[in-house]
Amino acid sequence: MWQGKTIVLGVCSSVAIYKALELLRLLQEKGAHVYVVMTPHATELIRPQLFQALSRNPVHVSLFGDRLEDSMPHVGALSHPDLMIVAPATASLIGRYAMGLASDLLTTLLLATTSPVVVAPAMNTQMFQHPFVQQNLQKLESIGVSVVAPKEGELACGIYGAGHLADHETILWMAERALHPQDLKGKRVLISMGATREPLDPVRVLTNRSSGKMGLAVVKAAFVRGARVTVLCGSVSISLPNIPGIEWVFVDSAETMHEAALKYFPSADVFISAAAVADFRPAKFSPQKLKKSNPLANLKLERTSDILSALLPLKRSAQKVVGFALETERLNDAAEKKRLEKQLDVVVANAPSVLDQEGGEFLILDGSRKPRSLRATKEEVGHEIFHYLGFNLS
Ligand code: CTP
Repeated sequence: MWQGKTIVLGVCSSVAIYKALELLRLLQEKGAHVYVVMTPHATELIRPQLFQALSRNPVHVSLFGDRLEDSMPHVGALSHPDLMIVAPATASLIGRYAMGLASDLLTTLLLATTSPVVVAPAMNTQMFQHPFVQQNLQKLESIGVSVVAPKEGELACGIYGAGHLADHETILWMAERALHPQDLKGKRVLISMGATREPLDPVRVLTNRSSGKMGLAVVKAAFVRGARVTVLCGSVSISLPNIPGIEWVFVDSAETMHEAALKYFPSADVFISAAAVADFRPAKFSPQKLKKSNPLANLKLERTSDILSALLPLKRSAQKVVGFALETERLNDAAEKKRLEKQLDVVVANAPSVLDQEGGEFLILDGSRKPRSLRATKEEVGHEIFHYLGFNLS
């Protein structure tokens, strides 16, 4: 997605300016070429030389550069990047942009560009909540600018409230969505992820080693392709990004995941069941903590319901359902059996070796094509699922 992309990173004079250095580094790590444009005030906080040294590209501040070839860069390459990100964006920059005022190089580029734009505000809470700032942000959103809402926290001025620059990960997810063709726009995608936990007593559970990484990769693929995403999230060992527009429904046991699936499945266009749902739970929950003297050898288990099978009678013909199959042997046969039994449109199968990894070997099958094995990251597998379902804008 990012490899070889040209990004203009606009930087304003907010206290959060130091976070732009890390954002620059993250964009470069992903393979993007980053050109930093600073407002004149931003150079009072951090000198352009630091951004220049890190980006290994000239940093632009003035509309009329020192050298003849630097002047009027708004008509040059800087106004045609793949993406412009303004982070941090101050109330002043947002106001001038929303009013169409080309009062410095950054606002000139923002007005001259036809590239997608992401704006991540960072400022004092009262300023952020001021009706004029809110109106300006709405104006920007109305012309297609992606606004990454700031998060709450203790601000430099000492008060607590919204105004912190959003996390880098949130900005990067929003930026990827701005870059990616929106072939899932208007679609509702429901995704289950993580492990379920079956309570034995108030402190003990039966669970499994699912980290939630595969599910989160599918969530990201759906989000950046423009879907409205709802996640049925079980127990995970990863941190979850706080992305506006993604609905998180936290569940615990197979039973609570089942209830949530029944509630959200009818309105979904696509359901991707990436959760590792327990097949068994303790037959009896002990309200008191079990003692050593009460031998677990007497532990009795009972079957949980199979969520995908239970949803089958509710499935509309236009709905697509995708399942996963984790197998230790005969991957292909076992995955094909699950595809037929659960009437899945696509099955992704893998061995336990990919648990908690960023990627590995996967087998993907849909019954109409030859099963395909691929070595890929989990994020690539997420996108591959949507290709298999026929969403192919590129
Ligand atoms: N699944 C489900 N409900 C369950 C168990 C699994 O909906 N109670 C879903 C999983 O989310 C996955 C698919 O079914 O998408 C296959 O899960 P898996 O654990 O690999 O297989 P099982 O169906 O449990 O079958 P088996 O235990 O025989 O391998």
